[in-house]
Amino acid sequence: MNGDSRPIGVFDSGVGGLSILRALRAQLPNEHFIYIADQAHVPYGPRPLEEVRGFAEGITRYLLSEGAKAIVIACNTASAAALHYLRQTFPEIPFVGMEPAVKPAAEQTQTGVVGVLATPATFQGKLYASVVERFARGTRLLENTCDGLVQCIEKGNLDGNEPRRILENALKPMLAEGMDTVVLGCTHYPFVIPLIQEIVGENVRVIDPSPAIAKRTEYVLKERNALSTAPKGTVKFFTTAEPERVHRVLSYLWREGGEMPEVERLVWHKGKLVTPATQR
Ligand code: DGL
Repeated sequence: MNGDSRPIGVFDSGVGGLSILRALRAQLPNEHFIYIADQAHVPYGPRPLEEVRGFAEGITRYLLSEGAKAIVIACNTASAAALHYLRQTFPEIPFVGMEPAVKPAAEQTQTGVVGVLATPATFQGKLYASVVERFARGTRLLENTCDGLVQCIEKGNLDGNEPRRILENALKPMLAEGMDTVVLGCTHYPFVIPLIQEIVGENVRVIDPSPAIAKRTEYVLKERNALSTAPKGTVKFFTTAEPERVHRVLSYLWREGGEMPEVERLVWHKGKLVTPATQR
C-alpha cells in the first residue's frame, strides 16, 4: 500500500509559505500537500495576535476536514499567534511551527551581532521572547520589521526599487554595528535572499530555516509511522483571494517541472473557510 497517504496541510498568510513548501517537497517527495494562502488577510504581521489566531484556527479546521494528517504552519506570525493554542485544541494532530532561527545564529556568529527580520506580531509573541531568553544570551540582536516587504513579495516584486529601499534601510545600520549573521524570521523573505546577500555581501551569513523545518516534519511523521510511500506526491493550492492574483506570483515563485499549478478559491464565511459553492 501507500503508507499513510493522507495529505499534509501547509498554510501562510500568502505566498511566503511556498519557501517552506519547496523544502518540504524536496525532503518528502512521496507526500501529498494542501497549501492554503490566506490572501484575503495578508499581511498578518501588523494584526493583533488574537485576530491571527482566529484565522489560523479556521484554516486548521478546513485542513482537518480535508483529511490532513499533520499541519505545517509555514508562517512565523501565525506560529507566534497560534502554535500553542492549536496544539492544545487539536492534541491528536502534529503541528510543526516556525520560530526565528536565533539558536543557530547565536551559535554561528563570530561578532556576536545578529540581525533578525520578522513581522511586528512575531516580535511581540511569547515564542520569540522565549527563543531569545533561551538561546541569545551574550548575543546582540538587532531587530527590524521591514514594513511593506511582504506586500512587495506578494506582488512578485523581488528586486525592484521598493524592496531594495526597505532592505537597505533595515540592513545597512545593522552592518554598521558589526552584524555577521541575518535570521529570516518571516517565510516570505527567502524569496529575496539574492537581494539581501547583495546588500550585506558574501561574508554575512543568511539563515533560511526552510530545510530544518522540512527535516523536522519528516521526523515528526516518521515517529508516528505516518510517512506516505505513494509513488509521486502532489500539491493542491488554495487561496482566499482571487486565484488570478496568486497565479501571477506563482509563476515567479513556483517552478516545479515548468507546470503552472491549478489554484482553487476558498472564502471566509462566519469565521469558517468554505468553498464558494457552499457559501451560496
Ligand atoms: N510569511 C509570514 C511570516 O512568516 C507572514 C507575513 C505577513 O503576512 O505579514 O511571518
